[in-house]
Amino acid sequence: MIYVFAVLIKNIKNATELNFLMNNIRNFVIIAHIDHGKSTLADRFLEITGTVESRKMKEQYLDQLDLERERGITIKMAPVRMSYILSPQAENSQPYILNLIDTPGHPDFSYEVSRALIAVEGAILLVDATQGIQAQTLANFHIAKRAGLKITGAVNKIDMNPPQLFQVMKELADLIGCSIEEIYKISAKTGEGVEELLKAVIRNTPPPKNLMPESTRALVFDSFYDDHKGIIASVRVFDGEIKGDNDMRLIATDTPFKIKEIGYFSPQLMPAKSLNTGEIGYVATGIKDPENVKIGDTITIGESQSANRKALALEGYQEPKPVVFVSFYPEESDNYDDLKRALQKLKLNDSALKFEPDFNDVLGRGFKGGFLGKLHFEITAERLEREFNMKTINSFPSVAYKIKKKNEWLVIENPKDLSGDFDEIQEPIVNLEVITPTIYLGGIFQLKEIFRINDIHAHNQGDRTLITAKMPLAELISDFDDKLKSVSNGFASFSYELVDYKKSDLQKLEILVAGDLVAGLIRVFPRKSIEHEARKMVEKLKKVLPRQQFSQAIQAVVGSKIIARETVPAFRKDVTGYLYGGDRTRKMKLWKKQKKGKKRLEKMGSVKISTDVFKKMIQ
Ligand code: GTP
Repeated sequence: MIYVFAVLIKNIKNATELNFLMNNIRNFVIIAHIDHGKSTLADRFLEITGTVESRKMKEQYLDQLDLERERGITIKMAPVRMSYILSPQAENSQPYILNLIDTPGHPDFSYEVSRALIAVEGAILLVDATQGIQAQTLANFHIAKRAGLKITGAVNKIDMNPPQLFQVMKELADLIGCSIEEIYKISAKTGEGVEELLKAVIRNTPPPKNLMPESTRALVFDSFYDDHKGIIASVRVFDGEIKGDNDMRLIATDTPFKIKEIGYFSPQLMPAKSLNTGEIGYVATGIKDPENVKIGDTITIGESQSANRKALALEGYQEPKPVVFVSFYPEESDNYDDLKRALQKLKLNDSALKFEPDFNDVLGRGFKGGFLGKLHFEITAERLEREFNMKTINSFPSVAYKIKKKNEWLVIENPKDLSGDFDEIQEPIVNLEVITPTIYLGGIFQLKEIFRINDIHAHNQGDRTLITAKMPLAELISDFDDKLKSVSNGFASFSYELVDYKKSDLQKLEILVAGDLVAGLIRVFPRKSIEHEARKMVEKLKKVLPRQQFSQAIQAVVGSKIIARETVPAFRKDVTGYLYGGDRTRKMKLWKKQKKGKKRLEKMGSVKISTDVFKKMIQ
C-alpha cells in the first residue's frame, strides 16, 4: 500500500502522466437523511480498501469528535483518502485514489454538506430502506444536483428485510431519474452489496478535470487549528501541483505563507511530498490568525503577480446566513478573553458560526452568536465546554426581526435592541416540508393548534404524504421538532428553507423585578399568546428568585401596561425571638422598626439577579 501511494504521489513531470493520475482519482460524498447509515457505509469502505487496520476499526470511524460518537450524529464533514484496485486480475491494473467525504445529515449542518459537494464530482445518495425517502434525502439530492454531481443511488439496511424495499428502490430511481436496476441494495452493517456499490461509484463518477492547466489553485473547503502547525486548511486542488516546500498565498486575504506540511487524510493527517490536480488533502499554513484563512478562499503559488492573482480565485462559497441568535456568557465573568479565543478556534472548524461582542446587565461581557439552527447552537455550547473547558450561560434563542420606524427599516437580532415604538414588525418565515407515513397526517395537522402554521397542504403519495406549509422560524425553533416527533412516533421528518420576511402582530415583553428591567429576559411574542407567556415567566421567576428582607414585585410589561405580576414575599426574620413572655408593646415596637427598615430597603430597591437565577429562567 505504501509503495502504491509512493508511486502515485510522485512529482508529475508531464501532462500525460498528470492525465493518467487524474483518471485514477474519484472524489465523492455520501449524502443521506440523518441516521440512514452514511458513517456505517464509510466504515465498510475503509475496511474494503484496507485504509484502517481491522484491529483499529471502530463503529462510525469517521465521526472523530467525542460528541459525534456519543450523540450518534455526524456534525463535521470528514474527508478520507482510500486506494482500491478495480480489477486485481488485470495486467498493469492501477489503484484508484478514492477521496470520500462523509457529511452530516441534520439540516442545521447542511452548510458542511454544500462545502463538501464543491470539492467532489460524485455522490452516493443513500436511503434507509426501512424508512424510505425522507425530508433531508430530498433536500440533499437537490443540492447535489445543483452542484452538477453524478449521483449513484443505494438503499441501505436490507439485512432488516424491509417489506417495502422494492417500493423504496422505485421511488429513489424516480427521484434520481435512473432505472431501478441502477439502484444498489446494500447493508452497511453486514457489508452485503457494499463492494459492488464502490465499484459502481468508480465507474459512474467522472474523474477530476484540469480547469486552468497553467496555474496552481486549491480551494479551502474546511480548516482546523493545530498548536504547532498553525491553521491547517483542508483543500481540493483544482489545478497544478502544490509541493511541500512551496511559498504560497491565500488570494482573498492576500496572506503569504510557507507550507509547514502537506498531505492527505488517512483519515489521520498523513504527510506527503505534494498534492496534484484533482487531489484532496491538507496544507498546514503556520498561520495563527483565524482572520487570514477564510473558508472558500483559494491558495495559489506565492510569487504570482497580484494583478493576475485575483483572476485565479475559485468561486468559493456563499457566506452562510445565521438564522438563530443566542448570546453566550462565560460562567466565570473574568473568562471573557478565554471565551473569545475558544470561539475563534471553534470558528476555524465551523465556518457557519458567527459571533460578536455582547453585554448583559446580569452576566456581564459575552458574545452574541449566529447559528444555522437550534441544534447548531446546542452543539456549539457543548463543544465549547468539552473542547475548550468553557462553561457558558446562554440567552433565549431568538430570530432576527425587521422593524420599520420613521420610514426606515432596521434589522434587530437581539430583542433587547427592539424599541416599542415601531410602525411595523416583520419576522422570518420558512417553507416547511414534512414527510410522514400517511397514518400520522391527522396528528400533524393538529399541530396547527399549537404553532402558527399557514398554507398547509398534503400531497398524498400512497403510504406516505408530503406536507408543505409556511411557518415563522421563531415557532420552528421553539419545540416544533419534539412535537412533530411525538405526534408521529418519530416517523415524520422535516426540512426547511428560509424564504421571506412577513408582517406579524408581535409585541415585546419586558420583565421588571422590584421596578428594575431585566434586559436578558426581554422576549418577543405574538400578541395573542403574550399574556400566557408573560404569566409563565412571572410564575417561574417567583419560584426561582430568592427571598429578600423586603417583598419583590415581578411585573411583565408590554409598552407601559402590566399584563402579569407576582410578588416574592419578604422572608420573616423573628426580631422578637429573644423576648420572653408576652411583652406585646415591646414586640410591636420591634415589628414597627423592622417594617420601617424593609420599606427603606425596598426604596433603595435594586435586586441583583444572580447568575444562578438567570440560568434557571433560561432553562
Ligand atoms: P448521521 O451522520 O447522524 O446523519 O447518521 P448516519 O447517516 O451516518 O448513520 P449511521 O451510520 O450513524 O447509522 C445510524 C444507525 O443505523 C446506527 O445505529 C447504525 O448501526 C445503523 N445502521 C447503519 N447501517 C445499517 C444497516 O445496514 N443495517 C442495520 N440493521 N443497521 C444499520
